[in-house]
Amino acid sequence: MPLALITGASSGIGAAFAIELAQSGYDLVLVARRTERLAAIAQQIKNTYQISVKTLTADLSSEAGMSLLEGEIASIQNLSLLINNAGFGTSGNFADIDLRKQMDMINLQIMAVVRSCRAALPGMMQRNQGSIINVSSISAFLPTAGNANYGATKAYLVSFSEALQAELINTDIKIQALCPGFTYSEFHDSAEFSHFDRRLVRQWLWQEANTVAQLSLAALWANRSQRSVVFIPGWINRLLIAITRPKLMRVLLGLSPQRTVKTVK
Ligand SMILES: NC(=O)c1ccc[n+]([C@@H]2O[C@H](COP(=O)([O-])OP(=O)(O)OC[C@H]3O[C@@H](n4cnc5c(N)ncnc54)[C@H](OP(=O)(O)O)[C@@H]3O)[C@@H](O)[C@H]2O)c1
Repeated sequence: MPLALITGASSGIGAAFAIELAQSGYDLVLVARRTERLAAIAQQIKNTYQISVKTLTADLSSEAGMSLLEGEIASIQNLSLLINNAGFGTSGNFADIDLRKQMDMINLQIMAVVRSCRAALPGMMQRNQGSIINVSSISAFLPTAGNANYGATKAYLVSFSEALQAELINTDIKIQALCPGFTYSEFHDSAEFSHFDRRLVRQWLWQEANTVAQLSLAALWANRSQRSVVFIPGWINRLLIAITRPKLMRVLLGLSPQRTVKTVK
């Protein structure tokens, strides 16, 4: 049985990935802070699919949570897919937002991802098998006021994922930087976004979490020639990024960075 570990699996895109992968016969390890939510999702999945589901409660912005995650990954013999999805947003300018929150964001959206990739890759390389999806955002390409730290953490994930794939060019290991646009989830339900009204963003810009997960997995499982490290789900999002950042036309055209990034010895 293939096995996938998903962080941030208690809601939104992470929970959608869990259901998609359960349908495809993956055993699952689901990680997040809310134990009861994880347990409810695990039970719902086990009621429908003949797979095993383990849950792990961990705050991945803390040292203890990251160590727990590393230990869990190291203990899995057959990790087929690692999805670094846990994340949160803030609303407001950098200088106005509590520094603690900004550091938590860097810990969760950079440090935990780096450490989980470092824990997973030696085993994957030994088996020459496995995939990693790092959930970034179209914000990675759109540095905007009110989004400074969030966009920067997501840009890190794009750069990191592209370079990792270049280093793994001679292996069968696949890396994806998934860059969703506006997605229906609990992301905008936090106190941070209490003044945010989803209706202010045009409806055609929104995607369902399960659509994002389905498109991401289809892109990951596509033939090597059709695959690119950076994956933006939906042509509207791709067009938006291509228009606002002409340099990223290669993303729209599906030109793989594997062909443009060379390993320098
Ligand atoms: N929704 C969007 O419009 C959008 C757009 C682009 C990218 N994204 C990205 O997509 C990813 C998933 O977000 P979502 O939209 O599905 O939002 P969501 O429904 O709020 O899900 C976020 C997940 O991350 C977990 N999480 C948050 N902080 C955590 C921590 N400190 N330790 C462990 N887990 C933590 C949450 O679980 P607990 O609260 O139980 O810990 C939850 O399972 C994020 O990386 C986000 O940046 C979202």
